Amino acid sequence: MAETQDGRRRHRKPHAIFIPYPLQGHVIPSVHLAVKLASHGFTVTFVNTHYIHHKISTATGSGADVFSKLRESSPGGESLDIRYATVSDGLPLGFDRSLNHDQFMASLLHVFSAHVEELVAGIVASGGEDEEVSCLIADTFFVWPAKVAKKFGLVCVSFWTEPALVYTLYHHVHLLRQNGHFGCQDRREDAIEYIPGVASIEPKDTTSYLQEANETSVCHQIIFTAFQDARGADFVVANTVQELEAETISALQAQMSYYAIGPIFPPAGFTNKSAVRTSLWSESDCSHWLDTRKPGSVLYVSFGSYAHVEKPDLVEIARGLALSGVSFVWVLRDDIVSSDDPNPLPVGFREEVSDRSMIVGWCSQKEVLAHRAIGGFLTHCGWNSILEAAWCGVPLLCFPLYTDQFTNRKLVVDDWKVGINLIDCKAARKEDVARNIGRLMGGDLGDELRKRVKEVKKTLASALESNGSSARNFGQFVEELKNKIQ
Ligand code: UDX
Repeated sequence: MAETQDGRRRHRKPHAIFIPYPLQGHVIPSVHLAVKLASHGFTVTFVNTHYIHHKISTATGSGADVFSKLRESSPGGESLDIRYATVSDGLPLGFDRSLNHDQFMASLLHVFSAHVEELVAGIVASGGEDEEVSCLIADTFFVWPAKVAKKFGLVCVSFWTEPALVYTLYHHVHLLRQNGHFGCQDRREDAIEYIPGVASIEPKDTTSYLQEANETSVCHQIIFTAFQDARGADFVVANTVQELEAETISALQAQMSYYAIGPIFPPAGFTNKSAVRTSLWSESDCSHWLDTRKPGSVLYVSFGSYAHVEKPDLVEIARGLALSGVSFVWVLRDDIVSSDDPNPLPVGFREEVSDRSMIVGWCSQKEVLAHRAIGGFLTHCGWNSILEAAWCGVPLLCFPLYTDQFTNRKLVVDDWKVGINLIDCKAARKEDVARNIGRLMGGDLGDELRKRVKEVKKTLASALESNGSSARNFGQFVEELKNKIQ
């Protein structure tokens, strides 16, 4: 509560600056969390990089900002106070961030981090008396949130977009080092059994950055510095669900204010397209084609927004899809192998499968997964994809590629048993691909997976009900945040 000149105390409306990590899988849940906070009485100034803004506005062909439609028609008629700002990530708009990933990360680490204080100072200075900025919400992967929040007297909220299991592995990297499990790729197989709240995890199921010992890489520098900074955050809010990671989350809660508030989806419903714009690429419509297919007969294939697939693996996956005889929708980004090789499919593949496939550059994944024709999802195990598939009751065929996806695979296949692995060894072989597609889409194993994923679906839905764990955690987080601000 702030003091007026005559000494009376007045409530000020909480005003948060929200800065998502400038990658598709981070922007999506951040946008939905920003809307959720605005509908709980916050003013939110949401900051996208010029590049993300440019991609989203070009994809929709509108040139408008992420929230413009929402402002026109807020749910329930009340207007949500969401402002929008953009900032440079330090690179020109035309720079190929996918092809030059390390340079992009280096720019975020050095240039963007240097600009951020200026950005926050500008927004803080522009806030009126009753809308003074009081809080900074930023992705956990940034190296500066707690430091910057402290400098400007703001409450710091760290937003974590991956599972709690991944958070706790990074948070306890010192234990992995002490026990020789950091960077032990292919050298050790003995299980890690000393992380609080994690009964046991094999080194191969830790994130790619924890498996590789290349500590001087820019991504390692970002992760280690970011997790040091996150220790100074006042709150961590995570896009996960208490019941799905109960022990891990409880152990984190013993150490910090950690709130599992997921799954974070659009407030007015999972597939509500109209409210906000989040796609970096324009979406092809798959619904008409899916309408012509039998329920549960189509495999959806997507490797997310930025991981690359090795060309020999991609070719074997394509051949395996052809061999399986199953119908499929395949999201094949232009840079799936590399932006230098935009046409990596085997010659004749498209023609061979043309009567039972739809290959697109990008789609509305949530709409596709919610379609009754979809019976399985071949995925790279991005966390958003896993939550979305579970929400739709779709079992998973797992092909992790990078970063947290190895750890996410463990949750899906080994812990919750709602998916199976695509391949049995390191390299893809078309026979394994075809066989595992068959196991997922039909037969007793497929039925069992579908039954289990429906249970997880129920857990997610219950968590969001008014007395569910995520709804309660979110309510408690908002109350404590408001108390801390006033
Ligand atoms: C990475 C990490 O691996 C992930 O765990 C983290 O949470 C975000 O960054 P990413 O490749 O972006 O993942 O995958 P994922 O987390 O699955 O997010 C992709 C998002 O893009 C999903 O929300 C999905 O619905 C959306 N998408 C994907 C589309 O809207 N259309 C598509 O065609 C493909």
